[in-house]
Amino acid sequence: MKFFADTAEIADIRELNDAGLLDGVTTNPSLIHKSGRDFMEVTKEICGIVDGPVSAEVVALDHETMMREAEVLRKIADNVCIKVPLTIDGLKTCRALTRDGTMVNVTLCFSANQALLAAKAGATFISPFVGRHDDNGFDGMDLIRDIRLIYDNYGFGTEILVASVRHVIHVLEAARIGADVMTAPPAVIRNLAKHVLTDKGIEGFLADWAKTGQTILR
Ligand code: E4P
Repeated sequence: MKFFADTAEIADIRELNDAGLLDGVTTNPSLIHKSGRDFMEVTKEICGIVDGPVSAEVVALDHETMMREAEVLRKIADNVCIKVPLTIDGLKTCRALTRDGTMVNVTLCFSANQALLAAKAGATFISPFVGRHDDNGFDGMDLIRDIRLIYDNYGFGTEILVASVRHVIHVLEAARIGADVMTAPPAVIRNLAKHVLTDKGIEGFLADWAKTGQTILR
């Protein structure tokens, strides 16, 4: 499963990328707002750090303006992936852009039928929001299971990008189901490395090492 960081914070992206953990980045208007940075500038910087797709979201609601915005965004770098909302205009934009060889991430997906439409429109990625689904009393992971089943039934090439990930169990479940990608806040990705027995083990080894009176670096 590929890992994307769901953030526009450069320091986090650099750290995770240097650890070999990043296959891409997703941003959205709220994350850009949170970063306090200029959208074009920060997107260009992120594209220069990671090799994989960097999602940049259009904000128009009609197809023509979405296309004009996408035209500006895709000039930022070759690894920009245009993010469009799951609406009929968004799907129309998705079809036009992917036919032209541009990567498209169809976002704000909350049903398997919506995911089916995105695949039919040729989306590179479909982003079902599991956390927001859970918040509203539905099981986000059931949605991922349904989309996996449907895409496999028909051999759709659209990658399932599990989004709105809130904790490490979402990541584990996504991997069990066979999602292609998950995007998570940097803190969730860091938490994947944590285990109480790892910490305890380090503590024990270091205590015994101190008793030897030895050093490695001399
Ligand atoms: C995905 O691309 C979105 O940016 C993101 O996962 C939304 O997550 P949230 O529900 O935590 O805002």
